[in-house]
Amino acid sequence: MRDSGNAIAIHNLCKSYKTLEALKNVTFTVKRGDFFGFLGPNGAGKTTTINVITGLSNYNSGEVRIFGHDVTRDYRQARQLIGLCTQEFNFDPFLSIFQMLVYQAGYFGIPANEAGQKARELLKRFSLLDKQHEKYRALSGGMKKRLLLCRALIHDPEILILDEPTSGCDLELKFLIWDQLALLNKEGKTIFLTTHYMEEAEKLSKTIGIINHGHIVKMGAKEDILRDKSLQDVFLEVTGIE
Ligand SMILES: Nc1ncnc2c1ncn2[C@@H]1O[C@H](COP(=O)(O)OP(=O)(O)O)[C@@H](O)[C@H]1O
Ligand SMILES: [Mg+2]
Repeated sequence: MRDSGNAIAIHNLCKSYKTLEALKNVTFTVKRGDFFGFLGPNGAGKTTTINVITGLSNYNSGEVRIFGHDVTRDYRQARQLIGLCTQEFNFDPFLSIFQMLVYQAGYFGIPANEAGQKARELLKRFSLLDKQHEKYRALSGGMKKRLLLCRALIHDPEILILDEPTSGCDLELKFLIWDQLALLNKEGKTIFLTTHYMEEAEKLSKTIGIINHGHIVKMGAKEDILRDKSLQDVFLEVTGIE
């Protein structure tokens, strides 16, 4: 298994939507156990990168491996290692949130009794256990966000990928999500988080990658990224577009 020390290895990834080049020779790795902040303004290519990593989107050229598994050739093995917390809510409206979690676990081959136990554990962790028999419509916006996290974690993935997890959150929810992500990383999960908030990348990440117009602008340890004075222009440009 090549690259198995890296949780995520992306090499020369190019992806176009018709004539728009959304990703231009994107190359970087995320080490096992890292907390990687993928920072960039709207339209930079963050979600497109996530879609390729999780097999939701095809790509023109390049290579993406998850612990050595190619996301196209070894799709199932690669996908099994990832928990995805999407930006948008896409829950089945007819299931209770407990059933929804058990069904989700089923996609990863987890038997229902084991999944049920894990679902209750996660619902408790995210203060949703008293809502387990409700349909997702009955949840507040903040509860839906926390449910997205439960769903991403139901098969106990090695890597947790989150697409702008705190955009649109109030302060209390933002801090709760930040605390949980820090804890999950301490527990050993590799975290890949996209954000357009410098503050969020600065607060949580060990490693920061900056993307703009489909290009990787900078990549490195957080301390180095923050110390690099030449980056002030990059930050200005990145946040200026926002
Ligand atoms: N399905 C799509 N069809 C056409 N263009 C798209 C599609 N998805 C994204 N794009 C374009 O690709 C670029 C990168 O988008 P995206 O990856 O969503 O950026 P980010 O998540 O960083 O905001 C943007 O210019 C966006 O308009
Ligand atoms: Mg996006």
